Amino acid sequence: MTDSYCVFGNPIGHSKSPLIHAAFARQTGEDLSYTTRLAPHDGFAASVGDFIAAGGRGANVTIPFKEEAFRLSNRLTPRAERAGAVNMLSFSDEGIVGDNTDGAGLVRDITVNLATPITGQRILLLGAGGAARGAIGPLLEEHPATLVIANRTAQKARALAEHFAGYGPISGGAYSALSGQVFDIVINATSASLGGELPPLPARLFAPGSLAYEMMYGRGDTPFLLFAREEGAARCADGLGMLVEQAAEAFYLWRGVRPDAAPVMALLRSA
Ligand code: ATR
Repeated sequence: MTDSYCVFGNPIGHSKSPLIHAAFARQTGEDLSYTTRLAPHDGFAASVGDFIAAGGRGANVTIPFKEEAFRLSNRLTPRAERAGAVNMLSFSDEGIVGDNTDGAGLVRDITVNLATPITGQRILLLGAGGAARGAIGPLLEEHPATLVIANRTAQKARALAEHFAGYGPISGGAYSALSGQVFDIVINATSASLGGELPPLPARLFAPGSLAYEMMYGRGDTPFLLFAREEGAARCADGLGMLVEQAAEAFYLWRGVRPDAAPVMALLRSA
């Protein structure tokens, strides 16, 4: 029987996950179906329950349900626990197992697809919401020289840095505190680009050869990427690779076979 998976979100119509997982299934010969499921804002748990009752094997979770999926899980992986959010569910005899593959997808996109080491580098993470939080643990596991979190609400950046203080060299504060500092990788995990806005970044943040990484994708040159290019960032990347890699990691955990992300990234870029 074909194993069924899905992604829960609201809205969910524009999700690329079915296309990505269908491409992975073709590539690996795995027999599975993957669909979108629109969950009502007040009915996420019931939607998950319905899917399990219908024989669902696992699911991805996207906006706005990642924190609710965290609470709904009967067991959490350590990285989901640290992230405080779940983007992947597996349904088994032990109940609902929650994991978070977003940070691993980001790290793999940077280190493998973009061939940029994080180890020993100076990393700046912009934002202190869910997207930023999910990235911190996996970034610190790569042993950067420093990880600085900057956020409009500085207190949220400081609180995140305190929360992760045991895992590596991390600090947090306001954008204004960045003046005079230089970074090798700058990651935009704010939602500012959604509104066509740019966090208030000081000039001369980008070291020679640096990478500017925008977690959003499909929006062309965002204000952040334009700023980075003007400021001399050597390379600019959007979050399409992260999207495909977080899916590849989920696929691997569900099926035990790791798909090749590169052809699927090429497929999405050409679409
Ligand atoms: P997500 O789950 O996508 O991270 P979120 O948890 O709502 O969404 O967090 C959004 C992040 O983008 C926050 O860090 C927010 O800053 P505040 O904590 O100060 O609100 C940041 N953000 C959103 N719009 C922004 C803007 N125009 N300039 C700078 N930061 C912005």
